[in-house]
Amino acid sequence: MAPTICFLLLSFVFLSSSTSGFLQHHEEGFISVVISDKGLDFAKDFVIEQAVASIVQSQLPQIEKTVQVPLVGKAKVVLSDIIINDIQVNSSSVNTGETGIALVVSGATANLSLKWRYSVSSWLIPIGISDSGTATVKVNDLQVGLSVNLRNQEGTLKLILLDSGCHVKDLSIKLHGGAAWLYQVLVDAFAGNIASAVEEAISKKIKEGIATLDFLLQSLPKTIPIDETATLNVSFVDNPVLSDSAIKLEISGLITGKNEVLVPQGYHKGSEISVSSGDRLPTMITISLHENVFKSGSLVYFTADSMQWIVDELPDQALLNTAEWRFLIPQLYKQYPNDDMNLNISVSSPPDIQVTNKDVGVTIFVDIIIDVLEDGEVIPVACISVDISASCAAEVVGNNLAGWLKLRKFSTYLKWSKIGKLRMNLIQSVTSTVLKTILIPYLNSQLMRGIPLPILNGFSLENARILYAPPWITVCSDVSFLGDYHLKQLPA
Ligand SMILES: *[C@@H]1O[C@H](CO)[C@@H](O)[C@H](O)[C@H]1NC(C)=O
Ligand SMILES: *[C@@H]1O[C@H](CO)[C@@H](O)[C@H](O)[C@H]1NC(C)=O
Ligand SMILES: *[C@@H]1O[C@H](CO)[C@@H](O)[C@H](O)[C@H]1NC(C)=O
Ligand SMILES: *[C@@H]1O[C@H](CO)[C@@H](O)[C@H](O)[C@H]1NC(C)=O
Repeated sequence: MAPTICFLLLSFVFLSSSTSGFLQHHEEGFISVVISDKGLDFAKDFVIEQAVASIVQSQLPQIEKTVQVPLVGKAKVVLSDIIINDIQVNSSSVNTGETGIALVVSGATANLSLKWRYSVSSWLIPIGISDSGTATVKVNDLQVGLSVNLRNQEGTLKLILLDSGCHVKDLSIKLHGGAAWLYQVLVDAFAGNIASAVEEAISKKIKEGIATLDFLLQSLPKTIPIDETATLNVSFVDNPVLSDSAIKLEISGLITGKNEVLVPQGYHKGSEISVSSGDRLPTMITISLHENVFKSGSLVYFTADSMQWIVDELPDQALLNTAEWRFLIPQLYKQYPNDDMNLNISVSSPPDIQVTNKDVGVTIFVDIIIDVLEDGEVIPVACISVDISASCAAEVVGNNLAGWLKLRKFSTYLKWSKIGKLRMNLIQSVTSTVLKTILIPYLNSQLMRGIPLPILNGFSLENARILYAPPWITVCSDVSFLGDYHLKQLPA
């Protein structure tokens, strides 16, 4: 194992000496996830915890040898039920560099228990003697290192084990029972075997663990449904970029219709994100969403005709009968006396969305068609156009990025009318009612569901805060692990 450790140490030096920043890359995503030093540390501790849990209680293969013991004779010694009972990790570190991620555990200690038995035959004692008992082994200095790389494989992440090594530097044996010569035999003839059995067992677990993590990454979905209309594309774009202090992942981030595969055309990512986190403490991850994510969503909902509503109930229901308008719009009442009415509200172009320094600016163009319902017929009688300017405050709800829309201002004009000219203040007041009691509350109920942020199952955002860095919205957050169901559920 020693040569591997040397190689590892060399590659760590190499890794940590590369200090260049993020490389240039080709395809770009509209969601980017940066895992900081602090995030990597969290991931490292998580991985070590999982690894220790998987190693503890593992049984090593039986070791047997026949040794010539001076004055005793030929002894056949068997060590069985060799079990790693406990591992304590004293110090560990994780380093990233352009070529990979290196994790080192040094000075770990471990406890093993085992059963021994022997039988001796010699010309002195022709009948033979045998004995059995137990022993404990303490591994005092265990070093483990591994380096991995992450690559994009058709939109998912592939975790590649570049190198790994495990080295037991020192172990001591405590015999319960047995003869003095046996102790010497264990130390002289068996210590090396025990050490390599431990090394092999741990190396094997590392390979299995990496395969499990790889499986976990590969089984991440490439799209996440948002609702019955839209799907968020969470395919990874390009290779992860490793720098000496962070890992940056890019995700497509575009929202498409349920059965649509094509990526909407004509978007350009624009500027790089530059977020200053102020004097706040650094967080584990930073998830940035480009305004094009929201724009693509706006387009999808618009094209899916889901921005159209027929309103036949108002807080003041009398407003939806021509009788109420007898004096204000005499023509309406004259043509359609005592008829019920409804409002056909439709958004006339995809709402425009722009991230600003303090919120998300939303511009919505709406047509409100006033329909009269007469003898089962729907008769449009007038159309009011409304230009709405609203601001949306982003907030993190669970692992979703949600929003809260506030009406800033609106302007109205009469697009057409079959019932003569309508008074401006009338139009204003109808519009205001519709916006405040129907449209904005409805949009908010939708927005509160939010867009799922790309977080692994089983983890949740903690102490998330939002920064606006036009054209990006950035979520800075820590992450916590909700339980231990996930890794244990996976197939071996
Ligand atoms: C743990 O590590 C520290 C620093 O590396 C060292 O000083 C200390 O002796 C170690 N403790 C054990 C129990 O190995
Ligand atoms: C090993 O066993 C000893 C004594 O039973 C105990 O004090 C220690 O915590 C155990 N674990 C390790 C990793 O040494
Ligand atoms: C998701 O985005 C990737 C990268 O842009 C693209 O190759 C893939 O076709 C998209 N998937 C869907 C379902 O639109
Ligand atoms: C509502 O108005 C739109 C035009 O703005 C029209 O296409 C649609 O058919 C109308 N819906 C109903 C139910 O009248």
